[in-house]
Amino acid sequence: MRSAEKGDFLALDLGGTNFRVLHVRVEEEAQKVLKMDSQICAIPQEMMLGTGEQLFDHIATCLGDFLESHNLKGQTLPLGFTFSFPCEQLEIDKSILIRWTKGFNCSGVEGKDVVQLLKEAIHRRGDYHIGSVAMVNDTVGTMMSCGYKDQSCEIGMIIGTGTNACYMEEIKNVKRIEGEDGRMCINTEWGGFGDDGCLDDILTEFDVEVDKTSINPGVHIFEKMISGMYLGEIVRLVLVKMTKDKLLFKGQISEALGTCGLFETKFISEIEEPDSGLENAKKILTELGLDWSLVDASVVRLVCDTISSRSAYLCAAALATLVNRIRNNRKLGHLKTTVGVDGTVYRKHPTSKLQKAVRLLAPQCDITFLVSEDGSGKGAAMVTAVAQRLKKSCSTMCTKASE
Ligand code: BGC
Repeated sequence: MRSAEKGDFLALDLGGTNFRVLHVRVEEEAQKVLKMDSQICAIPQEMMLGTGEQLFDHIATCLGDFLESHNLKGQTLPLGFTFSFPCEQLEIDKSILIRWTKGFNCSGVEGKDVVQLLKEAIHRRGDYHIGSVAMVNDTVGTMMSCGYKDQSCEIGMIIGTGTNACYMEEIKNVKRIEGEDGRMCINTEWGGFGDDGCLDDILTEFDVEVDKTSINPGVHIFEKMISGMYLGEIVRLVLVKMTKDKLLFKGQISEALGTCGLFETKFISEIEEPDSGLENAKKILTELGLDWSLVDASVVRLVCDTISSRSAYLCAAALATLVNRIRNNRKLGHLKTTVGVDGTVYRKHPTSKLQKAVRLLAPQCDITFLVSEDGSGKGAAMVTAVAQRLKKSCSTMCTKASE
């Protein structure tokens, strides 16, 4: 970090069911990015499916309330905007939403510049101002903030409500950019893998059903096999099928088990817990109104373990592809690298399966996993700080050139 990469920043993090506002201080001397304060705002389901204007007005209101309650309203702070959906990023502050994922489907946003929509919503309120904006994906924010702690971090991975990863690619391999030297961060949007049908052979009837009943059928197929938005529903569909086949619960499906979305993804990690898992399973099955036997509870544990292990193995395969690519790009016999990670599915499930599988699939790579704390928000603030410095040094150079 250089001298201009310091000061106070705001960060907005939109990408899951909640949205967060952060006040972050970048301290160059102490090599630290400090979270001063933060606030979580829920995004009600109707808003996730409403108009874009409603969504951005809600974001602007939450930001306004945060500034008010933290006495920051009079300041014009630069803002890092973590917006975790597939976008075509044209500039640091210009990014066009390609499509919504993860249960969002607000009208009038796809095809538009989301930074502009945010600025317009803030302008509509008219009671506060923000400085320059930098937009990043959560994978990039995570990689950036972990990279601050560990310089060999060159991959950012999220396994949460959705899943995705970014990595450092050689510029010479990036067709859109001229030049031979240096590296560039690529957001892979690996959740969209399989959208061309290449995963069809390994999709189960449960995956097909989950896709069909989702609000974005036909897209983000890989994500639907892996991430938190869908895992619970896959398990529910397996349990329904087994019950219909009279293999569970004496063939009786309760109303809750028969209802889409009522087997929550968090149940899987609770049921998987090594010590209390079986007890948790019994409790959850009772709450779901099921008449279970001990064998039923053990079978449910097995189903949960199978679905979450499959998620871990699929992620491992995708991650191994990235680390192997980085190693090949650099023509190295052995690569030592760090992956910055975030997301509830990663945090809440045993990670040993994923880690072991990556080691098996990328035997010449030595990978350290670094779980980020507030990574995407802090990372966005860091990107904003760098963008600001570049802008300042560019305008100094331009002024000097014209003198
Ligand atoms: C989005 C990605 C995001 C990932 C994790 C996916 O649905 O398309 O942009 O990084 O979720 O939040």
